[in-house]
Amino acid sequence: MTTNAIAVNGVDKIYGSGTNAVTALQDIHLEIKDQEFFTLLGPSGCGKTTLLRLIAGFEQPNRGEILLFGEHIEGLEPNQRPVNTVFQNYSLFPHMTISENIGFGLKMQRVDDAQIKATVGEMLELVKMQEYGGRKPNQLSGGQQQRIALARALAPKPKVLLLDEPLSALDLKLRQAMRHELKQLQKETGITFVFVTHDQEEAMSMSDRIAVMSQGRVQQLDAPETIYETPENRFVANFIGDVN
Ligand SMILES: Nc1ncnc2c1ncn2[C@@H]1O[C@H](COP(=O)(O)OP(=O)(O)OP(=O)(O)O)[C@@H](O)[C@H]1O
Ligand SMILES: [Mg+2]
Repeated sequence: MTTNAIAVNGVDKIYGSGTNAVTALQDIHLEIKDQEFFTLLGPSGCGKTTLLRLIAGFEQPNRGEILLFGEHIEGLEPNQRPVNTVFQNYSLFPHMTISENIGFGLKMQRVDDAQIKATVGEMLELVKMQEYGGRKPNQLSGGQQQRIALARALAPKPKVLLLDEPLSALDLKLRQAMRHELKQLQKETGITFVFVTHDQEEAMSMSDRIAVMSQGRVQQLDAPETIYETPENRFVANFIGDVN
């Protein structure tokens, strides 16, 4: 039996309390396979970022549990989990060079300098930016900065990479090119990707499987073709139908 990278078992997440309580997630069950490109798709406010933050360890569930590679992780701080995150605003450290940005996580882990240098070179090559290591972030285009943010997140070789709408700041053309690059990167590294988007086309073109979410619940979890051909309810049909 293969172990899942992530198992989410009956998770609820409620922000605030009393009359201010907001139920962000309700009875979420899902399993994400190792090396899968898995997407959380749904409209604004449906709970996508909340679920990522729970997996990353920035928030705790009110009910249920989350397992990483079969292990309970409740007690683990975000930096102790085999998980890294690319946030929507992927701000690089402006005063550091590109190479220093990519090596930052490794330096925090006290990896020795020679090893950091080797890994940074490897990562620059992976995102096809070998010549840019000496530059500062403000000397790169938006798309190039996005690729460096990915390289920085990949450098410590996490087993799982969480990506929260990482392409939304880019223009359409660049976004389409980056979809292909991201997919390629995921295949090459074999890292499990959990990708968040509200863009149906983006989800359909990249994912092995998609969880369509609405109002804190998973509406359907299937391969893109299945969701497209046999939507389980009206919400999914309408939401996916917008692609055409
Ligand atoms: N810190 C918080 N305190 C209170 N409510 C919150 C908090 N964070 C999120 N929420 C609420 O929880 C719900 C889910 O929010 P979440 O950020 O997970 O949505 P999302 O799917 O990522 O949306 P978007 O596509 O706009 O980023 C929303 O109703 C939101 O207002
Ligand atoms: Mg969000």
